[in-house]
Order: sequence, then C-alpha cells, then structure tokens
Amino acid sequence: MQKINVFDTTLRDGEQSAGVNLNSQEKMTIAKQLERLGVNIMEAGFPASSRGDFQSVQDIARTIKNSSVTGLARSVKADIDAAWEALKDGAEPRLHVFIATSDIHLKYKLRQTPAQVVETAVQSVKYAKKFFPIVQWSAEDATRTDLPFLAHIVEKVIASGASVINIPDTVGYTTPKEYGEIFCYLKENVKNIDKVILSAHCHDDLGMATANSLSAIEHGANQIEGTINGIGERAGNASLEEVAVALHIRGDYYQAKTTLSLQEIKRTSDLVSNLTGMIIPGNKAVVGRNAFAHESGIHQDGVLKEKTTYEIITPELVGVKTNSMILGKHSGRHAFRDRLEQLGFKLSEEETNHIFKQFKELSEKKKEFTDEDLISLVLEEKLAN
Ligand code: KIV
Ligand code: ZN
Repeated sequence: MQKINVFDTTLRDGEQSAGVNLNSQEKMTIAKQLERLGVNIMEAGFPASSRGDFQSVQDIARTIKNSSVTGLARSVKADIDAAWEALKDGAEPRLHVFIATSDIHLKYKLRQTPAQVVETAVQSVKYAKKFFPIVQWSAEDATRTDLPFLAHIVEKVIASGASVINIPDTVGYTTPKEYGEIFCYLKENVKNIDKVILSAHCHDDLGMATANSLSAIEHGANQIEGTINGIGERAGNASLEEVAVALHIRGDYYQAKTTLSLQEIKRTSDLVSNLTGMIIPGNKAVVGRNAFAHESGIHQDGVLKEKTTYEIITPELVGVKTNSMILGKHSGRHAFRDRLEQLGFKLSEEETNHIFKQFKELSEKKKEFTDEDLISLVLEEKLAN
C-alpha cells in the first residue's frame, strides 16, 4: 500500500469561504483537533496577508508538534520573509509558495510573459530554500496551463530546490481523466520528478473534487490537499474526510492509504462546522446527518438482519456512535417493532399491529417520528385498552 500524505488547508483555503472568519483561539482549537486527526501537514494561514493571520500561524507553529505546519506565500521576498518569521519555531517548518501558470492568469492577472513567470518562480524557490528545509511549490491554475509549459516550469523549480510539487485545479475545471493525464504527463516529461512529492489540490466547482483527487492518486500523486467538510473558496475544496475514507474502503482498488485516525473524523467535522458556521448538508458523504440513517422498510429490514446489506462504511469507523433508523412513511414493521423494544416496550402481536397501523396513517402527514412521538402512541394504546 502506498502512503498518501494529507495536507489540510481548512485554516487557509477553508477560511477563504465566503462568510467565514475564525479568530485566533478558534483557529488554535481546530489546529489541535487536526493534529489529533493525524494530518501530516496543516496550512495554518497566509502570514503576509494580515497581522492576525501572522500571529495565529506563529502560535500554531509553536504549539503543534505532530503535524508539519506550513503557511502560504506569493512569489515575493516580503511574503517569504513573513512566512519564515511565523513558521521558524515550528517542529518542521515548510513553505508553500505559489505563482499562476495559465495563459489566462499570465495575461490578465500577472501581466507577465512565460519567461518572466519562470524566473520569478525560480528566484522565489531559491530564496525560500535559504530558510526553509522543505519548500512546496504550486502552479496556480495548473489544470488550464499549457502542458509543456507546466512541465518546463516544474522542472525548473525542482532544480531550484522545491521538494513538493502541487498541481492545483484552482477553479475546479478539470475532469478525473484529464487530471490523471496531467500527472502522467509530468511523470514522463519532467527530470527528477520521481525525487519529489507530487500533490493534488482540487476545488469543487463542478462537484468533481473528490473524484479528481482520487484520480490523481491513481496516476502517481502521493499527497492530497483539501479541507474538512470541503469548505473553501466558491464551491469549496476536496473534502479530506471523503478522500481518506474512500481510500480506506476501496484500498483494494487504489492500493493507497492515509495515516489519518479516521475515528476522529466526526468530531473534527462537527468542530469545523460549529466554529465556521458552515452547515453540513444532511446528505453529505461520510459526515452528513443522513450518512448512516435508513428510512425505507426494505433498507431497515436489510440492515437489521445484516448491516453490510446497505452500509459500506461502519459509523464507528468515522467516530459516529451508531447508525439510525428513521421512522417515517417508508418504514416497515421490523424497524418499528425494534425501536419499541429499544424503548423498553414489550407489546403483544395484536398491540404492535394496532399501533403500527396508527403510525402508518399518521406518517402520511408527518416527516419523521421521534421517540417521544412513539411513546405517546404506545401510551394512548395502553390507556384505550
Ligand atoms: O487553489 C489554488 O490554486 C490555491 C493555491 C494558492 C495553491 O489554493
Ligand atoms: Zn485552493
């Protein structure tokens, strides 16, 4: 099994979600939980962007011991200097420096020629290497970059000292097949590519961030970047919990795994949701409220007989206590009787049939039955007889 490094950017790209603003105490709480989750690298912020960001990156770098803490920098000396000041006391300081490489960004944003961009990238990596033992270099908008140019600039930054190369799908534009092909192309066309860590960084604009990250792994990436609950700019980043659990469940297919403590996923997800105010959709894979809930009679009956009929992930794997049987209009007698027994009622066949009939009639009008609703139904039945 190949080991995949997990690079968490909840505190940097994740905090760039519209409407999210974490204070330094909240960031520290999340950083400590990310360390418990076992992320290999956490991007704590963008030190040059504000005084507050600088301070919290520095505090996190000085506190976290079991994950490597990094910070983002543009390809300018002032950003790299600020990042070094913030990160130098960390257990394993590393810099994440980036520059855009696509024609669109060169023409409209940077207003630089390809040769100028290569020169800036090379100089920034060389400068960063004077301080940082590990330099990660990112080609912003890599998936809309001319491939031979991407290969050329990647080769140059490797020669200048970058030991992690990140290929971001900055605007969530690529497809799994195309993204995989970019990794194959780089592996075939870049000198010394086998000496560096290759990283995938996907955004979810077309809903393909998880699939694209997994495709990158299939084609040679050994680091994935993302955020908890997939928060981030616009439609967000790849959800780390989805990628890690997919690798765990389908290790047979991917032959790769992370070293995350998967049982910490639910706690981490709840914490990030509470502190950022970003609500997790009920049907979200792995961490949604309904991810381990069964409503229809056929599914409930199957799960009560044997969980693997309809559950490919056990709730315990990701730190959820138990699955749940939602009693609603699609539910059947089996789950209904099971819940009454859990609530401590020993009812005759006739009583059960009668209450079940009432439940079915009421469930046409009511979305979901709580335990309190069921207790009322049973007590009414007992009083009536
Ligand atoms: O999406 C992106 O391109 C980024 C870079 C700064 C790595 O977040
Ligand atoms: Zn990003």
